[in-house]
Amino acid sequence: MVSSLRFAAFICSAVSFAAAISPGFPYGSKSVRGVNLGGWLVLEPWITPSLFDNTGNTNIVDEWTFGQLQDRATAEANLKNHWNTWITEADFADIAAAGLNHVRLPIGYWAFDVEPGEPYISGQLPYLEKAVQWAGNHGLCLIVDLHGAPGSQNGFDNSGHRIAFPGWHSNATNVARTNAIIKTIANMFKDSSSVVPIIAPLNEPAGFDGDAVLDVVKQYWQDSYGSIRFPDGSSSQSNTVVLIHDAFQPLPYWGGFQTPPNFQGVAMDTHIYQMFSDEKISFSGSQHIQAACAYSSTLNNFDLWLIVGEWTPAMTDCAKYLNGRGIGARYDGSYPGSSRVGSCTGLTGSASTFSSSYKTFLRQAWEAQVITFESFATGWIQWTWKAENADEWSYQAGLANGWIPQDPTDHKYPDICQN
Ligand SMILES: *[C@@H]1O[C@H](CO)[C@@H](O)[C@H](O)[C@H]1NC(C)=O
Repeated sequence: MVSSLRFAAFICSAVSFAAAISPGFPYGSKSVRGVNLGGWLVLEPWITPSLFDNTGNTNIVDEWTFGQLQDRATAEANLKNHWNTWITEADFADIAAAGLNHVRLPIGYWAFDVEPGEPYISGQLPYLEKAVQWAGNHGLCLIVDLHGAPGSQNGFDNSGHRIAFPGWHSNATNVARTNAIIKTIANMFKDSSSVVPIIAPLNEPAGFDGDAVLDVVKQYWQDSYGSIRFPDGSSSQSNTVVLIHDAFQPLPYWGGFQTPPNFQGVAMDTHIYQMFSDEKISFSGSQHIQAACAYSSTLNNFDLWLIVGEWTPAMTDCAKYLNGRGIGARYDGSYPGSSRVGSCTGLTGSASTFSSSYKTFLRQAWEAQVITFESFATGWIQWTWKAENADEWSYQAGLANGWIPQDPTDHKYPDICQN
């Protein structure tokens, strides 16, 4: 405990390096260990299904339709209540007490800029400001993560707007609006890099749609670098790190991109899930563990700080609405075109329904990933801190039910990747 207290005092206060940037956390020499604050300032139906079910309207499937398809005053009141209760300072205290050093906080563009015709409800900024204050109070580093851009960068419900084809990259106005928001965020936090050491300019742009997206993304990363590292058009560098996302490309695609010495303070975010493909969903438990360990070879030796900014010990897509409200799961064959692996009963929902062997598996899946991501990358940020009714995804539930240790360095299966 003594050493972890000394560690807590050390993190997120400026650390001197010979390099041109002094980040608020010693990236590369200490492991990033964190959780995402998912489903708070950007709604996700699977994280808070009750907010969606309570509307009584099955066409409300994301934050866009939440603002569009119900009484405005009701929507605003329910959102406000959610912002006030889903995450509070007590969560930051619990996260710090669990030995973590980072939180990543998703926020949508509509917190900053809503244009006519966009049904989004804004009002999230005071909560972002509170979150930064709470992070500071508890010695946590906070990553501001722009999770939804105008037009949607990926069409996922977690971008705010679930649509068939993303509309961000193909519209220069959308990209320009996003650049302006990044400048605003960079200026908000340029003097608080000891608490906000990182800004992530865009979550999960849809690189799987090809070069039309990737070309825009690369230019956007260049523009974001300028905005974040040289805030306010200044010629002196900030201490804020830019966390770009791999856009679902294999890491070698980004080899040499924004690397030193020409670029300082860039980190790469990669997301690792094992349930969104027909192949992986059918893995046995031991195949999932092996796959987790095998990420060592894809992560190893990348030329930027590499953070696994989303991952989970959950290995099914059984959580209600995980693939979208009204859409089923690959695992039980209720997802269109999927073939059934087995029943979801006992694999999602409340931990009180989980068998002890399932909880042991979650612990092993957790440790295999933590060990791999600490050994072969700069660290990890689990998705997500809490979920209403999907304990297999919840860091909080993992702590309460024993598949996540109270101290993240306390491993029961330290050799799990050595078999
Ligand atoms: C581009 O996006 C803006 C909103 O950011 C919208 O007003 C405009 O109509 C879009 N342009 C096209 C051609 O779709």
